[in-house]
Amino acid sequence: MATAAPAQDTLSAFDGAKGFMPLAEGLALYAAAVQAGALGLPLLEVGTYCGRSTLLLADAARAAGITAITVDHHRGSEEQQPGWEYHDPSVVDPELGRMDTLPTFRRTLHQAGLEDHVVAVVGRSPQVARLWGTPLGLVFIDGGHTEEHAGGDYEGWVPHLAPGGLLVIHDVFPDPADGGQAPYRVFRRALASGAFTEVSVTDSLRVLRRTAEGI
Ligand SMILES: C[S@@+](CC[C@H](N)C(=O)[O-])C[C@H]1O[C@@H](n2cnc3c(N)ncnc32)[C@H](O)[C@@H]1O
Repeated sequence: MATAAPAQDTLSAFDGAKGFMPLAEGLALYAAAVQAGALGLPLLEVGTYCGRSTLLLADAARAAGITAITVDHHRGSEEQQPGWEYHDPSVVDPELGRMDTLPTFRRTLHQAGLEDHVVAVVGRSPQVARLWGTPLGLVFIDGGHTEEHAGGDYEGWVPHLAPGGLLVIHDVFPDPADGGQAPYRVFRRALASGAFTEVSVTDSLRVLRRTAEGI
């Protein structure tokens, strides 16, 4: 069977979008979203930024006739603030002097023709998760990379992941020399819970399947 691929327009938009996801990881995320789409439940992303990864979830959601939800406060993570390694001054609101990635995200999604397949939620992940009540087919964790934020994303969203659903975690670095350890600890926690089985590893992107209840 041929592997499903995103539409060429989506790949071009991904290529041109601001963001942090390399293509190989993007394609692994897309493959997971296509698999999870078969459950007929929404796909949820924590960490929209400018929509680079959202484009791929949106494309998979369109193909499956479902919706991708993406959650972000759009004020940037710690490492994206002025003076830090991943700061981009072009996504600062000139009036407020604070980061605001929402306009760029909306432009990216509109230009790719994928707006109809995404619901963007602007807010803090734990606050949104507390209000959530719909089972999810996929949870993609790519929000804040501190212990507090990555752990909060796991605790907030994983309870909503349906049986057979996929948990995808970005920036999992077993070796501290390669990057921060919070996403890796979330990955270890998921495996240790006994509720997940590892499905694939693509560079720093890990895909796990929910095979039992619990978090
Ligand atoms: C690494 S970027 C996401 C990258 C994006 N997935 C991509 O592929 O380009 C992390 C994002 O998470 C958001 N974020 C960090 N902590 C958050 C929180 N507690 N609630 C909501 N969004 C958060 C930041 O604003 C930032 O846009």
